[in-house]
Amino acid sequence: MTQGSSAPVDATTTEAWDALRALADGFTPSLRAWFAEDPERVDALTFAAADLHVDLSKGLVTQPVLTELLALAEQVGLTERRDAMFRGEHINVTEDRAVLHTALRLPRDAQLEVDGQDVVADVHEVLDRVYAFAEQVRSGAWTGVTGERIRTVVNIGIGGSDLGPVMAYEALEPYRQEGLECRFISNIDPTDAAQTLKGLDPASTLFIVSSKTFGTLETLTNARLCKAWLLDGLSGQDEAEAVRKHFVAVSTALDKVADFGIDPDNAFGFWDWVGGRYSMDSAIGTSLVVAIGPERFAELLAGFHAMDEHFRTTPLERNVPVLMGLLNVWYADFLRAQTHAVLPYSQLLHRFPAYLQQLTMESNGKGVRWDGTPVSAGTGEVFWGEPGTNGQHAFYQLIHQGTRLIPADFIAFAEPAYPLRDDHDGQSTDVHELFLANFFAQTRALAFGKTADEVRAEGTDESVVPARVFTGNRPTASIMAPALTPSVLGQLVALYEHTTFTEGVVWGIDSFDQWGVELGKQLAQQVTAAVAGDESVAAEQDLSTQRLIAYYREHRR
Ligand code: F6P
Repeated sequence: MTQGSSAPVDATTTEAWDALRALADGFTPSLRAWFAEDPERVDALTFAAADLHVDLSKGLVTQPVLTELLALAEQVGLTERRDAMFRGEHINVTEDRAVLHTALRLPRDAQLEVDGQDVVADVHEVLDRVYAFAEQVRSGAWTGVTGERIRTVVNIGIGGSDLGPVMAYEALEPYRQEGLECRFISNIDPTDAAQTLKGLDPASTLFIVSSKTFGTLETLTNARLCKAWLLDGLSGQDEAEAVRKHFVAVSTALDKVADFGIDPDNAFGFWDWVGGRYSMDSAIGTSLVVAIGPERFAELLAGFHAMDEHFRTTPLERNVPVLMGLLNVWYADFLRAQTHAVLPYSQLLHRFPAYLQQLTMESNGKGVRWDGTPVSAGTGEVFWGEPGTNGQHAFYQLIHQGTRLIPADFIAFAEPAYPLRDDHDGQSTDVHELFLANFFAQTRALAFGKTADEVRAEGTDESVVPARVFTGNRPTASIMAPALTPSVLGQLVALYEHTTFTEGVVWGIDSFDQWGVELGKQLAQQVTAAVAGDESVAAEQDLSTQRLIAYYREHRR
């Protein structure tokens, strides 16, 4: 059994894996029959995790499958590795680092010392500084160099230094302070900076440069563009003072922040044990704290913590992230699902699938285990999605009737953020109810489908009966909560963090490195000279790349 960073167990050599393979052989799911034969199924497969209500009964899972998945979790040492993570062992083996995003949300009176560092004290010291800064901006006490209060905060960051804050800023829109807007610049496409800065007044704009490494090309380039825009707009003002009043930074590399010209007093740190894609609840969330205020941000952290505690302490058979992670392994490795859809029935969560793409795919898109040996099972499903009901009118067709198995998570909230009614023709409809009816109808249609006989019974012409049949048995998980509060958002994100962790442990991979993004970065550095016209560098490229660069140079006016 594995401990901390010891050698991973090859899941495919376990007894449970063999048993699952046998169960998958000739597996003929029938949600209709399972529901008809077992009135206990829904209760047995519905779970509570903090404020989340998670119904897995419309999944393609039977009790024997579940039993073997739980055995698999034991045989690969899931709980040992989970506990090693919470203790701060260096389970990020390829970078020799602890993995402690869970420490970012520990309450002030918790205790955790790692590598001789009082982690909880450090976390709360930074949080207090971020909170104090945010309060100054929110109250107007923090002014720009001309004395104007700040009206717009622009976060400059990419990947984990962007997606979390953007996603949460959108999700918690009803909690934002009026008159204070956040914008986000991530892409090195100069269009992003140009469009984002459009219409802004430099005198009332504050930039937060967010970069764990403070070495990311996109972020540093955009930060320089913004600095030039600011100084241009504030010409006549003392430049150093303008930067001091309009730029703050978030990073683990505070020396590089100082080199950039940002006052160390205006820098908020975090630690190498926070992965970029796990950092939205560190100081990387500063823009969000400004938007929703420290109190709400603290609620978000408490939500994360509640899910951490569920994951850490709940027996595996009722542990929701564990069950969801194991089910994903079942779908991906035994039922050959390649992708996984995330379909929030909440417009406020429109960036949630994009956020999850980095969390899940940068974490589990690996082909070797944490000891360097090749994996022997498929890893890392492709996560994707869009909010319902928009997706219903776009890609659901393939989920309902296509030839591929696409497990889908449906997410919804009982309480609407905007309780609007549609009054017409003497009728009054609660539009949120109309919206949720679609969630319930879709999961039902996906699970139970429509047989040829049912289609015929509607009087359908025989020639089009096959086209109108729904096979059903398309697996979904239904995740509901009372309302999309800061706490619930924290719970949801932590749920997926731990689901991702569970899958990674089964596959024996290091879910916390991301070496796969490095090669493209290195080559971009090389190719830049060729794009700018260095012919000797261009000649070193492969023929296809040479031609593409030539095309660009020919067509660029
Ligand atoms: O290139 C990938 C990556 O390192 C992500 O893991 C990270 O979230 C993103 O780039 C941004 O990195 P940084 O915060 O160091 O600028």
